[in-house]
This record gives sequence, structure tokens and C-alpha cells, in this order.
Amino acid sequence: MTAVIEAKGISKRFGGVQALQDVAIQAEAGQVVGLIGPNGAGKSTLVGCLTGLIRIDAGAVFFRGQEITHLSPHQRARLGIGRTFQKLRLADRLTVFENVAAGMFAHLFRNEGASRLRRTVAPVRRPEVTDAVTRALRSTGTESLRDEMVGVLPYGQRHFVELARALVSEPDVLLLDEPATGLTDSEKDRLCEVVTQFRAGGRAVILIEHDLELVGRLCDQVMVVDHGQPIFAGTPAEAQRNPTVVVAYLGTARLGPKGGENHA
Ligand SMILES: Nc1ncnc2c1ncn2[C@@H]1O[C@H](COP(=O)(O)OP(=O)(O)O)[C@@H](O)[C@H]1O
Ligand SMILES: [Mg+2]
Repeated sequence: MTAVIEAKGISKRFGGVQALQDVAIQAEAGQVVGLIGPNGAGKSTLVGCLTGLIRIDAGAVFFRGQEITHLSPHQRARLGIGRTFQKLRLADRLTVFENVAAGMFAHLFRNEGASRLRRTVAPVRRPEVTDAVTRALRSTGTESLRDEMVGVLPYGQRHFVELARALVSEPDVLLLDEPATGLTDSEKDRLCEVVTQFRAGGRAVILIEHDLELVGRLCDQVMVVDHGQPIFAGTPAEAQRNPTVVVAYLGTARLGPKGGENHA
């Protein structure tokens, strides 16, 4: 089956830091692929390479088999690549409705155009916009917040607004960068429902997440990176049993006499 999104041989250096070295990842229709690894491993950088926000040094990115490496972020968004940011990119002084509506227009403009729109223009209330926003709010459970200013919302709720903003343009692939940070258990359940519903439509998800329980619940496959290098690919259960992954992820310090290999 052709992957909805695929990247091969991705390398990216920032000054003295090799953030990614020859990394590959792919997600097929209906799949949720986890991208895990310690802080600084290169996970957010890889998402940036897929969306085009980060220019790669080597490698290639494909959408439904077509190479898109040369396309700009807004061209990729228009093709159907949606994302959320680890550091949420919401406008605090606009309402939930306006923030989510801005997600429909972001892909029509170059980056600065979209952010200017987000800052200064209340999006037009055309029926097709209102309908799409309503669907996105409903699917993320944020309908009742529609007229609230984003700046007053608790952290967890803001994550769902960010998610709605990514969903409003009805992407084919969703790249989620640590969407569960700061969520309560019931909010995590809601996040699982949103992702499950999205993938059920034959769409693909790449999920960066530290909560391995959540990764186990949602992901068909996981990819583990450490220091910019791919160190494992397989099922979540295999990842949790893999000594290399355990050491990279938890750090050797956590492998004491109780759980450690030293004790074996
Ligand atoms: N824009 C940037 N400029 C310089 N260094 C960066 C930049 N973005 C990321 N890095 C570095 O690249 C490495 C990978 O970062 P990142 O992709 O954010 O890791 P992760 O998301 O896995 O925590 C880190 O060492 C980070 O400091
Ligand atoms: Mg990150």
C-alpha cells in the first residue's frame, strides 16, 4: 500500500548539532505511527521536515507516492498535511471560533500572511467556514468554548483547540507533536477518541508522545529516535521490551537493581 506520508534518508544539521541523521518514517492510510525518543532526539525537527517548515539537508518526502520535498509548507498543507505544534500556536486574544477558522485560511497564504490574518483579521463568517469550524469543534469536544477567548482557557482545553485548528481543513495526515502534555486522564481519553475517529476515515497520524501508555493504546507502529538516529521500529509492545529502547528512553540511571539488566 502506498504510504500517505513517507520520508526517506532525512538528515538535518543545526550548526554543530546533527538533529537528524538518515531517518525514515512512513504512515499508511488508517495507521497511527508513534514517534518517540528522549528530549532533543529530533522528533519535532522531523515533523518540521515533513511539513516543510524546516529545510532538510538530505533526503526526500512523499505524499501519496508523489515527491513533495520541493513544496513549501503552505503547498503541503493544501495537499492535506495538518499538524499541531508542541508549543501551541494559538492567538490568545481571538476566540476559539476565530482560532479554528484561521486554520482554514492558513494554507491559502504564505506563512507571514497566515499569521497576520490570525493576528488582525476576524475570519469571515461565511456558512462554509462556520460549518467546517462547527464540525472541527464538535469532533474535539470544544463546541461549548466557541466564543471564549483562547487566553482564558485552561491548558488542556487549549490543546483541543489546537487540534481543532489542525482538523478544520480536513487533512489526510495529521502530525501531532506531544498533544497529551498536561492533559488529565479523561482528556487523554478524549484525545484517543479524536485520533481514533480521524484514522477510521482512512487517514494517517504520526504521534509524538512521551506517555507510553497512550502510545500503546493508539499506535500500530512506533519509531524510536535517539540523538537524531533511528534506533528502533516495530510495535509498541516490542518497543517496551527492547533493551536499546529502554536504555535510550529511560536513561541508564533508571535501570537500577529492581528493573535493571544489571540485576538479571
Ligand atoms: N531551530 C533550531 N536551531 C538550532 N538547533 C535546533 C533547532 N531546532 C532544534 N534544534 C536542536 O536539534 C535537536 C533536536 O531538537 P528537537 O527536534 O526539538 O527534539 P525533540 O522534539 O525530540 O525534543 C536538539 O539538540 C535541539 O536543540
Ligand atoms: Mg519536540
